[in-house]
Amino acid sequence: MYFFRMPRLTIGRRTASLPIVQGGMGVGISLAGLASAVARQGGVGVIAANGIGMIEPDYYADGRAANIRAMRAQLRLARARSSGLIGVNIMVAANDFQQLLDVCIEEKADALFMGAGLPIRNIPVARIRAAGAAVVPIVSSGRAAELIFSYWQRAYGDVPDAVVVEGPLAGGHLGFRVEALNAPEQQLEVLVPQVRDALAPFAASFAKRIPVIAAGGIYDGADILKFLRLGAEGVQMATRFVATEECDADRRFKEAYVACRPEDVTIIKSPVGMPGRAIRNRFLEDAARGVRNVSRCAWRCLEQCDIRHADYCISAALDNARRGRLDQGFAFCGANAHRVSAIVPLTALLEELKQGYEAAVLQGLAALKDETLGMIEGRIAGLRRDYDQARRKLAGLRLRAGKAWDARRGSLNEDLERARELVERLGREREAVRAKLDSLARRFPERLARLQAIARSIGPRPAGNPAG
Ligand SMILES: Cc1cc2nc3c(=O)[nH]c(=O)nc-3n(C[C@H](O)[C@H](O)[C@H](O)COP(=O)(O)O)c2cc1C
Repeated sequence: MYFFRMPRLTIGRRTASLPIVQGGMGVGISLAGLASAVARQGGVGVIAANGIGMIEPDYYADGRAANIRAMRAQLRLARARSSGLIGVNIMVAANDFQQLLDVCIEEKADALFMGAGLPIRNIPVARIRAAGAAVVPIVSSGRAAELIFSYWQRAYGDVPDAVVVEGPLAGGHLGFRVEALNAPEQQLEVLVPQVRDALAPFAASFAKRIPVIAAGGIYDGADILKFLRLGAEGVQMATRFVATEECDADRRFKEAYVACRPEDVTIIKSPVGMPGRAIRNRFLEDAARGVRNVSRCAWRCLEQCDIRHADYCISAALDNARRGRLDQGFAFCGANAHRVSAIVPLTALLEELKQGYEAAVLQGLAALKDETLGMIEGRIAGLRRDYDQARRKLAGLRLRAGKAWDARRGSLNEDLERARELVERLGREREAVRAKLDSLARRFPERLARLQAIARSIGPRPAGNPAG
């Protein structure tokens, strides 16, 4: 029981309970056995159509017919073994792309993963929709996704249902030039958000979710979480599925994964003109030295391949490896193949991925908790600093206010003293005036009487003498 489970993944009409797509592995590595086992466990199981007819006895007699027969039989077998999501990986560059597509439509594959070329021209969209199948192009850049979706919109009035973004750490043929494999801007961490952004306008105008599925070098549960956090809704993994009991390859093919060391994982130039990642061995070393190891060409399965100039037939080499004859062929693998340490039952691999995912979520939460606590502690320390500063400021203000008050009080006291002296002086002056008035009032009748007496002694003035 897991508390933190991986989210579900919806592709077209169907939903897988795990967001894990088992990458298609051509020439018999992922057939009905592996695909149905993955689908039964809740992932998306994928049968690879490329070179599928090589499991038939008459491939060299009629390659096209063998491919079609094997495709149909494997799809039916997978359907009989699981009701989960079964997809098919078809190479657009294959010369029988249209015929294989027809079989997948007739057999009602849930999803059609289309890589090694752009699935744009002559796609029977109406028939695909009528069969209820989802279309999932495999791209290695946002530009390729944009191109496919714009073309579909114009030509079909429809768009694909999801996109696999395959980065430079994937196994098998790679959609990059050798020089670009290590470029920082080509890494899956950059490509996933780039493709998601390229799809956003189409998701909006068609009002549907278009999940991005990240592929290439995804090894454990922590990787799954990382790419889901970068905006993917699912992951496509192949290398891990090779080293399971259920993988359809011979045990010796799987053991080559267990035995390989980091220095054994190498980049080859495939006869089809693309770089590929594989486990170094004698066969590849001979090819690199120019030793030609050409078996006959059953039919020209790939337009770009011309057996007259190739060092070997890639289909025959991969078929030999699948059968465990690694001296006559080689194993494609992802960049992390050297980390594989055992061949395990599929359920054990999925348990490990689920556990790793949960552990990574918990680790993320613990880191988030530490980060949040650190942030809170920092904030508290900041608040404490602000508080101390405010307290110091307040004390300073109080001091200044006290001093100002003392200074003001001193001058008020002086004013008061002066006012008091003034009042006293005015009081004294008032007293003096009053005394003067009193003495005047006392002396006035006396002076009047004296004046009257003088007047009487002088007598009346003679009449007619105006002077006086
Ligand atoms: C043995 C092998 C065969 C592959 N064959 C195909 C193929 O036929 N078509 C294809 O589109 N991708 C092919 N791939 C790529 C895978 O589907 C997948 O996208 C990729 O390997 C994911 O990276 P990983 O292996 O690191 O998980 C192959 C990968 C491996 C390891």
